[in-house]
Amino acid sequence: MIGVAVIGCGRIGRVHARNVAQHPRARLIAVYDVAHAVAEKTAGELSVKAAASLEDVLADRNVDAVLVASSTATHIPLIRAAVRAGKAVFCEKPIDLDLEPALACWREIAPHHPVVMLGFNRRFDASFLALHERLHAGEIGRLELAVITSRDPAPPAAEYLKGSGGLFRDMSIHDFDMARWLAGDIVEVHAFGANLVDPLFAQFRDIDTSAVSLRAASGALIQINNSRRCAYGYDQRIEAFGSKGMLQAGNQRATSVELWNAQQTAAKDLVVDFFIQRYRQAYQTEIDCFIAALENGGSVSPGFADGIAAQRIAVAAEESLQTGRAVRLSS
Ligand SMILES: NC(=O)c1ccc[n+]([C@@H]2O[C@H](COP(=O)([O-])OP(=O)(O)OC[C@H]3O[C@@H](n4cnc5c(N)ncnc54)[C@H](O)[C@@H]3O)[C@@H](O)[C@H]2O)c1
Repeated sequence: MIGVAVIGCGRIGRVHARNVAQHPRARLIAVYDVAHAVAEKTAGELSVKAAASLEDVLADRNVDAVLVASSTATHIPLIRAAVRAGKAVFCEKPIDLDLEPALACWREIAPHHPVVMLGFNRRFDASFLALHERLHAGEIGRLELAVITSRDPAPPAAEYLKGSGGLFRDMSIHDFDMARWLAGDIVEVHAFGANLVDPLFAQFRDIDTSAVSLRAASGALIQINNSRRCAYGYDQRIEAFGSKGMLQAGNQRATSVELWNAQQTAAKDLVVDFFIQRYRQAYQTEIDCFIAALENGGSVSPGFADGIAAQRIAVAAEESLQTGRAVRLSS
């Protein structure tokens, strides 16, 4: 049994805590949140201990791994502390709001040969995984174009937005990781952004709508489109186009039933809403892969370097948005 403690019991922390608690080869030892009442609620639901402090978590010999699911600005200090205490780490995306602290963190912890897995859950979605496998099996020949669509049903709370780091670092980072996963190293980024959804985003000097074009070292081109609002639910799709055809992975619906009548045809259920439902299986599978890697002493993927690489693209996208020019990245 791999002993795990979950730090941060907010939206995603509760999902991870439940998945660890239900995992047949893991034991949820404790949950911790600076808001103790929040930790106690999750602890009560899952019949585990709400740790009184981070120090208590790290001192516990039964804790093999720490799952960091707290607010983004806390990730680096928590990764550092956990690695220093000899724990493996699963950390939610992004590593940090800025690139430099993430690089400095890696320089500091690398000598410890740490196990740090990043929470890029979309890599574990069954449909995206199948698309990835079939692309790399050569079913559509060489990848030439990819289109990644990610639109949230509604903007997050103002409190979350304030500390989110902006659309590219908070939301598009998943899509930047998907682009790398599908097409390999990215060498050029050109970003467009707009405020079309809610004036709140402009108040935080953020955007709510974006179209980003990427060029991969392989020559493939990737288009990513993001919106913080989508009237029909959580829109998550990938299209990969190559010399021999196209692979598509689409949205999930509660059922596949269609209504055909005098007013409409092929009317289906709405797409599932929101990430907790859409990626339920992916969140379970990523935790399973993390636990399996710890059991086998194998390497974790995606790792810290993948987190850094996605963050570099996010930073380049911001630079492109500000300057209006394409930004080159070294491959
Ligand atoms: N992979 C995904 O699909 C996904 C989805 C949502 C959020 N996230 C990421 O997960 C992280 C958390 O997001 P969320 O939506 O759950 O946020 P949230 O605001 O709902 O929850 C964050 C929790 O962390 C706690 N916290 C803050 N500082 C802490 C500290 N130093 N120690 C312990 N607890 C602390 C807060 O009290 C809060 O309960 C963010 O980095 C976000 O980018 C990832």
